[in-house]
Amino acid sequence: MDLDKAIDNRFSCRSFLDKKIEFETLKKLFDSCIKSPTAGNLQDFRFIIVTDEGKKKEIAESCLKQLWMCNAPVLIVIASDLKNLIRFYEDRAEFYAVQDTAAAAQTLILKATDQGLGSNWISVFDTNVISRVLKLPDHVKPYVIVPLGYTKEQPQEKKRHATETFCHFNEYGNKQHGKDVFPILKYQQEKPEEKKNIFTILKEKFSKK
Ligand SMILES: Cc1cc2nc3c(=O)[nH]c(=O)nc-3n(C[C@H](O)[C@H](O)[C@H](O)COP(=O)(O)O)c2cc1C
Repeated sequence: MDLDKAIDNRFSCRSFLDKKIEFETLKKLFDSCIKSPTAGNLQDFRFIIVTDEGKKKEIAESCLKQLWMCNAPVLIVIASDLKNLIRFYEDRAEFYAVQDTAAAAQTLILKATDQGLGSNWISVFDTNVISRVLKLPDHVKPYVIVPLGYTKEQPQEKKRHATETFCHFNEYGNKQHGKDVFPILKYQQEKPEEKKNIFTILKEKFSKK
């Protein structure tokens, strides 16, 4: 699957089929995942693969009782081993742990999409419960839980604000780029009634040339 297709097809899945994920498929996900960037290449991410029904239930209960998570054949708990991060970065360690595990989670869910799997991203959980259930040592902290499984759910149209809404040029609040970095901004100022997706407009505007 190409990258754009994986990005477009990924969605937050909340229902799963009763179908096992083969170990070889899971292995592919982690082979990709470990290529994610980490601060100082310390590779602090750790993946706890949870298939035990009792543990899945306890985990789902601790995620504000999102019991639909139990229907996923596998829950991947992405944790950081903070030992080296603390040694190198001291007070900044946690700041990097969050980012390292988030990068790994994003790689995981995109690769899962590529492999035809549904996934989600859960971080509303009781850290103490997760640590107890998974017997995590004190220096290993959980940040993201990814339920994984085959699904009948289909990706829905993404509800997102227009791309330029999120972009600021050189300083926060400056929506004027000066140069033609983002020609669409100028175009939309000229035609404010134009509400189409930025990429559709760009395609129409530039394919005529
Ligand atoms: C930090 C974070 C926490 C989230 N927590 C939950 C959650 O607890 N339960 C859930 O069903 N989805 C959760 N999501 C998924 C979001 O609801 C979802 O990404 C958002 O609605 C956009 O939909 P999409 O992922 O299908 O594009 C979370 C996503 C992120 C990034």
